[in-house]
Amino acid sequence: MNDLSALPDGFVWGAATAAYQIEGSVDADGRAPSIWDTFSHTPGRVAGGDTGDTACDHYRRWPEDLALMGRLGLDAYRFSIAWPRVVPQADGRVNGAGLDFYDRLVDRLLEAGITPFPTLYHWDLPQAQQDRGGWPERSTALRFGEYAAVVAERLGDRVTNWATLNEPLCSAWIGHLDGVMAPGWQDLTAAVRASYHLHLGHGLAVRALREHVPGAQIGIVNNLSTIRPGSDRPADLAAARRADGHVNRWWLDPVLGRGYPQDMVDLYGVRLPVQEGDMELISAPLDWLGLNYYFRQIVADDPAGPVPYFRQLPGPGPEHTAMPWEVHAPGIEELLLRLTKEYGAPKLYVTENGAAYRDTVAADGSVHDPERTAYLEQHLAACAAAAAQGAPLAGYFAWSLLDNFEWAYGYDKRFGLIRVDYETQRRTVKSSGHRYAELIRAHRARRAR
Ligand code: FCB
Repeated sequence: MNDLSALPDGFVWGAATAAYQIEGSVDADGRAPSIWDTFSHTPGRVAGGDTGDTACDHYRRWPEDLALMGRLGLDAYRFSIAWPRVVPQADGRVNGAGLDFYDRLVDRLLEAGITPFPTLYHWDLPQAQQDRGGWPERSTALRFGEYAAVVAERLGDRVTNWATLNEPLCSAWIGHLDGVMAPGWQDLTAAVRASYHLHLGHGLAVRALREHVPGAQIGIVNNLSTIRPGSDRPADLAAARRADGHVNRWWLDPVLGRGYPQDMVDLYGVRLPVQEGDMELISAPLDWLGLNYYFRQIVADDPAGPVPYFRQLPGPGPEHTAMPWEVHAPGIEELLLRLTKEYGAPKLYVTENGAAYRDTVAADGSVHDPERTAYLEQHLAACAAAAAQGAPLAGYFAWSLLDNFEWAYGYDKRFGLIRVDYETQRRTVKSSGHRYAELIRAHRARRAR
C-alpha cells in the first residue's frame, strides 16, 4: 500500500460534485435557466445531445447520496451552489425555496459529521445575467458579490469553509475564447474581460463572506497544469512560458497580490477594465488555495494559431484516461510545491482530482475499475510526497462522488467513485470507491496510533 503517513492529522478526506452536473430538477422550486441549460439545449454543443435536465436526480435523491458519503467515510463534501436557484433572475430577487435546498443539505451533512465545502460558482451563470452581457460585463461581478452575500447570510452560521469560483480559467478561456463551453464564444476581448470580472466577482464574494461569516475559511479553486516544452527549440521554450502564463500565472498572480502578468497583458493586447480599488479586492487575503489537477501539458509554438500561439502535444506517457488525458501523477506534486514555494500558499486543498474510464458492469452488478483505483493511489502518493516536502496540504477531494454530466462530453465520460445507472438512477459503489474508503480508514487508524 502507498505510504500516506505524511498526510497530516486531521487531513480532510472528501469528494466533490457540482450543481449542474448532478442536480437535475432544472425548473423546480423557482430555478431559472443557466447558461449551461441554454448551451446544452443548443444542438451540436454537447456530445450525444445530452443535457443536465435530469443528471443524477440529486436534487431529489440527495438523502441517498449523503448516505453513500457516509459509507465511504468522507470527512467533507465539496458541492456547488446553483446561482440560478438562489437569484434566478436579473432583478436580484432572492428565491427562498432555492436556498432551502442547500440549507437542508448543510444541516444533514453536519448531522452526519460531514463538513460542507460549498463553492459559490461552478459555471452555471443565470441566463438572465448572460442576457445582460455575462462575465465580460462588470455588472455580473457586482451581482455575483450580492448573490454571495445572500448565501453567506443564510448558511454562514453553519458553514465555515467556502470557495468562491471553480476554475475561472474554464469560464473565461474555454467559455469565451475556445468556445467549447458555455456560453460558447470565441472572442479574445470578451474572454480577457470575463477573466477580469471573474476575479473581481471573487474579490467581492470574499468581502461578502468576511462580512457575514466570522471565522470563514475562504479559498479559490484553480485548475493548473505543469507545462513542458515539446522540444528545446527556443520557439518551444517561449511557447511554454506563454502557456504557463495563460494556464497558471494569469489565474494565480492577480489573486495573490502580484497583479496581472505583464507579458500576458501585452500578448493579449486587451485593456483590462480596472477601476480604483479593484486590485485590492481581487487580492484580498485568502485562507487556502484549491488545486484541481488532471493533466500536464506538453506544448509547441503555434505562430499561426490563436492567441497565445501554442498548441498542446499528445502526452507521451504510456497511460491515458478515457478523456483521453495523460496520466501523470508527478504533476500534482510539482504544482503543490510550486504553490507552496513560489506563491507562499498558507494552506492547500486538492479540490478535484480523478479520472474517467470506460467502466463495465459485471453480471453481479459490481463495477471493477482497477485503472481508476491505480490513478487514485498514484496521485495520493504524490500528494503525500508533496506534504513530506512541506506543502501545507490539508485535504483531498476526489472528483467525483458520482458519475455525472461531464459538460461538453455529456454522460459518456464517467468520473465517479460511484456508478450511476442513468436509466434507473441506481447507484453502485465502484471498487475504486471501496478502495478510497479503505485508504481513508487506514490513514485515520495510522495517525491515531
Ligand atoms: C473540472 C471541472 C469538473 C469536472 C472535471 C472533470 O475541470 O471542474 O466540473 O468536469 O473537470
